[in-house]
Amino acid sequence: MEEVAIIGIGCTPVGEPWHKSLRNMAVESTWAAMDDAGIDQVDGLVVGNMSSGNFNDQESLGSLIADYAGLGNISAFKVEGACGSGGAAFKAGLMAVASGYHETVCVTGVEKMTDVVGDNATKILANASDREYEAIHGISFVGLNAMIMRRYIHDYNVKREDLCSFPVNSHKNAVHNKYAMFRKEIKLDTVMNSPSVADPMTLMECAPICDGAASLILTTKEKAKEFTDTPVVVKGCSVKVDTIGVHDRKTVTSMNATVTAAKDAYKQSGCTPKDIETIELHDAFSIMGAIGLEDLGFAERGKGARMAAEGEIAIGGRLPCCTFGGLKARGHPVGATGVYQLAELGWNLRGDGPVDAEVGMAQNIGGTGSTVSVTIMGRD
Ligand code: COA
Repeated sequence: MEEVAIIGIGCTPVGEPWHKSLRNMAVESTWAAMDDAGIDQVDGLVVGNMSSGNFNDQESLGSLIADYAGLGNISAFKVEGACGSGGAAFKAGLMAVASGYHETVCVTGVEKMTDVVGDNATKILANASDREYEAIHGISFVGLNAMIMRRYIHDYNVKREDLCSFPVNSHKNAVHNKYAMFRKEIKLDTVMNSPSVADPMTLMECAPICDGAASLILTTKEKAKEFTDTPVVVKGCSVKVDTIGVHDRKTVTSMNATVTAAKDAYKQSGCTPKDIETIELHDAFSIMGAIGLEDLGFAERGKGARMAAEGEIAIGGRLPCCTFGGLKARGHPVGATGVYQLAELGWNLRGDGPVDAEVGMAQNIGGTGSTVSVTIMGRD
């Protein structure tokens, strides 16, 4: 197996760009990543996307994006794993380069969620839950996460303000990120007193519905030397699944797919939690931030939110998290999110971000933990 490196990164600003279509955004980030790498062709394109058929009445994204990006008749296809589609697409691109199938691959994550109106985005997102046992009863992802939060608070006697520290951290870190949707700081009181969305969760604890695209260019570590002095090397990457329905799990306050993917990624990389200097955590809801830190081995059970409240996840803290604003403030264009996270980690590792790190991690969750990817990357 070849070692794989990232040589190009490109993103579009996250938000509600009515003047751009799905294909415009995907082409924009693909070309930005290719420009960043200094190349004008790739051998393969892997697209991470959750639900273009429902959000945009458009499928066949491999063909669409390769065509409009001028990449010709290369190998191109879409990978889907709900909100974890970006991380799963990255794994597919990584395998293609590591195995020698392709020398250079572009991974593009894209989602345009704001073209549908009313409750339709919530309904489409719920297609990634167990439709016959969860969504059919009217429960959305916000509702599922609120129930998990309620159980977590009950089991560990966690303070609401501790959980609300995650959005405060993410909003603070988004201020410097020109691609972020919400570039403004918010106070703990604002999060706690924002409107209830699904009790006990408030609006400011949820990632927004939005649009965005992000791309990465992968090649072998050997070949990367021809393009850059600062390649970002993939040290470990694992995608694991769990039961699709939350009700089928032994516990709801831990995600087994995160635990097992992390175990795998740590083993592949030879790292332990102590080696990880920064993390792009899947903070779609504040509760996911807390559980994520615990499942990845950074906090004891029930103590993840305390880490946030004590400033350990701040830039300058023990483990800077969501350093470009996370899902909460950079935004969460679902199928693109995993690629944004890896782009941001890549910037930090090559010295273009707010954190100067040698080794870092990204965690991307699909559904309520039904598909999870954990990736560890570092400097050469
Ligand atoms: N954070 C901060 N502000 C938000 C926001 C969020 N998550 N969502 C919306 N807003 C803001 C909007 O910008 C708007 O502000 P404005 O009045 O100044 O323009 C205002 O709140 C109302 O926006 P609206 O679109 O009407 O909000 P909504 O009530 O329809 O949606 C949520 C709010 C939280 C329900 C929606 O963002 C949501 O469903 N988020 C979760 C998405 C999700 O499940 N993703 C998958 C995770 S697995």
